[in-house]
Amino acid sequence: MAALLGTWRRSRQGAADLAAAVELQVLDGHLAVGTQLPAERELADALGASRTLIGSALDRLRESGLVQSRRGSGSWITSPAARGFNPTPSTGADVIDFVCASPSAAVGMHRAFDAARLLLADELGSPGYGDRGLPILRERIAARYTERGLPTSPAQIMITNGAHHAFVLALRMLAGPGDRVLVEQPTYANALEAIRAAHALPVPVALGRDGWDLDGIEAALRQAGPRLAYLIVDFHNPTGLRLDDEGRERLAALLTKSRTPAVIDETLVELDIDGGPAPRPFSAGDWSILVGTSSKAYWGGLRIGWIRASEELLARLSSARFGLDLGSPVFEQLVLAELLADPEPLARRREEVRVQRDVLAEAVREHCPEWTFRLPSGGFWLWCSLPERMSTRLAVAAAAHGVQVAPGSRFGAQGGLERWIRLPFSQPPDRLQEAMRRLALAESAVRGQPLGEIPVR
Ligand SMILES: Cc1ncc(COP(=O)(O)O)c(C=O)c1O
Repeated sequence: MAALLGTWRRSRQGAADLAAAVELQVLDGHLAVGTQLPAERELADALGASRTLIGSALDRLRESGLVQSRRGSGSWITSPAARGFNPTPSTGADVIDFVCASPSAAVGMHRAFDAARLLLADELGSPGYGDRGLPILRERIAARYTERGLPTSPAQIMITNGAHHAFVLALRMLAGPGDRVLVEQPTYANALEAIRAAHALPVPVALGRDGWDLDGIEAALRQAGPRLAYLIVDFHNPTGLRLDDEGRERLAALLTKSRTPAVIDETLVELDIDGGPAPRPFSAGDWSILVGTSSKAYWGGLRIGWIRASEELLARLSSARFGLDLGSPVFEQLVLAELLADPEPLARRREEVRVQRDVLAEAVREHCPEWTFRLPSGGFWLWCSLPERMSTRLAVAAAAHGVQVAPGSRFGAQGGLERWIRLPFSQPPDRLQEAMRRLALAESAVRGQPLGEIPVR
């Protein structure tokens, strides 16, 4: 909590400032409803403030309906909307979701919503439809590509309802039933779902411990003749690997030579948590369709993503879109435009995720010392190699120990990958540590025992 409140003490209005800082964290979703607050003395020590100041800040928060207290149970965060509903404090005994690898909203979300509300007036006179998206947002996204070294004009950007929607749109336009789609093995599970739902056939090319098998991709392009490729070259899901400049150039040359359009999923590219020089954005000219999103850097709840492609391809995608939907919500686009104009939310997100990655890596070493992984320099997950072929059994046992986790097989075009498991680090440190403690119990229940004999707690 002290870390979250960071720089709260700005004036001599100590209690009012502290109450306002807590309020902002609640509104931004960082202090969830039900979170138990530390005792007044602990809070005073951690924040270097007097108990009187803490007491009067809590009084203010109680008055505004953000905190409730009960003798014997302490104080916890509540929501003004829940007044009279009286939620009980969280006990920490709930199920930990390790399947979903998405963080809560970035710092500054509430401010961006407020700022967007003021900009909305300019939009209300329009019909609100727009298959390409708002010009201000397209400009800001194009500017980001240009800053990253890929000159881009707003005419090359189309706003979508997330990166997954962008992929489905491209898939719909470029591949039909029975067509082949080249994918990495392992790959993002929902992309495999989308390919299957389109009655297309995934053609997997293995991604080794050290990365992309470009010879394998060349052979698959030649032998299988895929209509489309779907690749994640930045902080790949689930391995966390990143393709270097040399690899990008060769891959681009292979795709161009075989005239294979490729969706390059850049969902994780902003989650570059170690800094360091970044490879240039992937580009195979007119053959590449880059898809991006606000989901990981800012919040999945915005449901705003985008496509960067040639103007000609975008015109075709626009027509294809009318068979799917008629545009993206205006207000959320304005919110994202605001977020892109402010460097702080992303900088804070990266800091937070770096800490979480290191906490999870340490917790794996401590609780499951036989699991090995390569520490990724970005993204949201550790791809762990297990000492036995037990991923599915482990996931079943983990559920019985209060952790839902995706086994390796979810990331394979034809299942398999029983020696692997994906562990996301998108949650706060204490949840990560607790999840690993529970996974260690699940592991000891599973080792050497066939499925069906796992003791259930
Ligand atoms: C590689 C990859 N692509 C796409 C998505 C979905 O993104 P969005 O929420 O923008 O649809 C995810 C979400 O985890 C992902 O990991």
